[in-house]
Amino acid sequence: MSSLFSTYNKWEVEVAKGQGSYLIDTEGKEYLDFVQGIAVNNFGHCHPTITKAVKDQLDLLWHSSNLFQIKQQEEVAKILTEHSVCDHVFFCNSGAEANEAAIKLARKATGKHKIISMKDSFHGRTFATMSATGQEKIHGGFGPLLSSFDYSPFNDTETLLKKVNDDVAAIMIEVVQGEGGVRVLEPSFAKALIELTKEKEILLIIDEVQTGIGRTGSFFAYEQFGLSPDIVTLAKGLGNGFPVGAMLGKAHLNDAFQAGSHGSTFGGNPLAMTAAKAVLEELLAQDFQEIKEKATKWKHVLREELMDHSFVNEVRGLGFLIGIACSGPVNEVITKIRRHGLLVLPAGLNVIRLLPPINVSEQDLNKAVQIIKQSMNESKKEISVS
Ligand SMILES: Cc1ncc(COP(=O)(O)O)c(C=O)c1O
Repeated sequence: MSSLFSTYNKWEVEVAKGQGSYLIDTEGKEYLDFVQGIAVNNFGHCHPTITKAVKDQLDLLWHSSNLFQIKQQEEVAKILTEHSVCDHVFFCNSGAEANEAAIKLARKATGKHKIISMKDSFHGRTFATMSATGQEKIHGGFGPLLSSFDYSPFNDTETLLKKVNDDVAAIMIEVVQGEGGVRVLEPSFAKALIELTKEKEILLIIDEVQTGIGRTGSFFAYEQFGLSPDIVTLAKGLGNGFPVGAMLGKAHLNDAFQAGSHGSTFGGNPLAMTAAKAVLEELLAQDFQEIKEKATKWKHVLREELMDHSFVNEVRGLGFLIGIACSGPVNEVITKIRRHGLLVLPAGLNVIRLLPPINVSEQDLNKAVQIIKQSMNESKKEISVS
């Protein structure tokens, strides 16, 4: 019996090694990995320049503390602020921590506590971020939750307008709901967000934990919708596997956080910052247009090859955050796909989520389509025989 708390439904695979788009298990079986640590390894496993940067830093200094000047923090913050609409950065270790910082900053800066988040959103597992998350299955057994959050249906302007009043500090939203079923923000809802937050002086918090760092074909996903968030949160892809998170905020929020307002022992340590800097340098060397075109072409191929299958309702998503919405639970077909050597994830009950690294080859993208198609056809045959 395992000595671990059973907080995860683990697969039968034990991974020994990762290289680029591939993982190799302890029995030598190779998998094409379109999970990538759940949208973490945007540049694939063990990317050579990121690995080298971390290896070099390991021999110099792992951790000092935020009592000291840390050159790498300044460097990473400079890149993030130069390429976003924000001006200041707080470093932490995960997505939940980044969102926790965002919630604290929004409350302190506005003196208000109400935050509107979206139904089916996912913002983390700490108490505040769990409360921000608009999914009952995540809340189960932990009540009473923080009362600050009011959930509005994603892409529903009318309901959002009704919920907004003078008590609202912020609206918190993902540009693509990842865990909630790969749902993309509609341009009309983005427009409503822009107008509403401006008119009512409400802060806009964009959770880019899953969508940021090139995942959707741009540095941040919000850029593609004309949004100008007051606060942006990042984690996952920022370290390409090294645990690191960040909260970015606009200049007008700077005074709300003073020494002692917030902190983290590990946040922004030299090792994490070295990983993040190497990731960001790699990201800035990318041709985003090329990534977008590669991803769009793949989405079309997925549609062409899968849409006539009775199990498939829709192929949707942005960049390399793609969902295949199905007419029933996807767990069985995901297991079949895995046995054929491709790793994919569910998003909710009925959606297969595909998260290849953004530097994936076209050959591997096509290979994945064929494995998914074959696995679905086999499932169909099994259903018709039984
Ligand atoms: C959009 C979003 N926000 C926050 C989180 C929480 O991040 P972490 O697991 O690093 O705390 C996740 C994790 O899946 C996420 O997808």
